[in-house]
Amino acid sequence: MELHAFPDEPSWVEALLTAWDEVGGEALHARGEFFVALSGGSTPSVLYRALARREWAWGATRLFIGDERWVPHDHPQSNHRMIYESFYPRPVQIERWKTELPKPEDAAADYARRIKQVLRDPPRFDLILLGIGSDGHTASLFPGTTGLREKEALATWHYVDVARMPRLTITYPLIDLARQVWFLATGPEKKPWIDRILSGATDFPAARVTCALTPPKIFYHP
Ligand code: 6PG
Repeated sequence: MELHAFPDEPSWVEALLTAWDEVGGEALHARGEFFVALSGGSTPSVLYRALARREWAWGATRLFIGDERWVPHDHPQSNHRMIYESFYPRPVQIERWKTELPKPEDAAADYARRIKQVLRDPPRFDLILLGIGSDGHTASLFPGTTGLREKEALATWHYVDVARMPRLTITYPLIDLARQVWFLATGPEKKPWIDRILSGATDFPAARVTCALTPPKIFYHP
């Protein structure tokens, strides 16, 4: 993995916008579409708000969500709600998880089907954004969860004790297929996890992320 460290938020955002233009420009030029899986949590909102202020080929950009909580899509804890509000009023195309379906497994199967339908075969995102949680999780791949062992499905679900709810998530096989994978991590509390990843650790979920085409990048500022 490659560390891209910046002194503050403005320089971190600016670097991400430049990198977005590069990976998105290549996708649009080569394939006419740009497929992105966005990270949830709180870190990325400032980037989404910066992206929303820019002219971009939003009509050719399809935004998926790397993971979701088992709550209504307009619930305060919903990643869809955070992403929708961050991009608002820019009318972007967000593919949300259907947490209104009867069971989490229905939502995971539906999302995997839609990923295959939109991205086709192989289901390769141009860019996947990920966070790093305070226990080393990423997306909703938490320590000790069954989804860590998923080798086939593109999306899955599991009950997460620490979150006290079912969580929906993309899987390691889908992440590995991407053209680029970026971790967005900010604040001194994330640095120890980053240092462990860079030292070659593999004993927590974020450290086990791979990307066959390009080493994952970590964008960090204190
Ligand atoms: C989620 C995220 C999760 C997040 C990390 C970091 O649904 O919460 O997908 O993986 O990226 O927990 O969260 P913060 O950005 O809030 O530190």
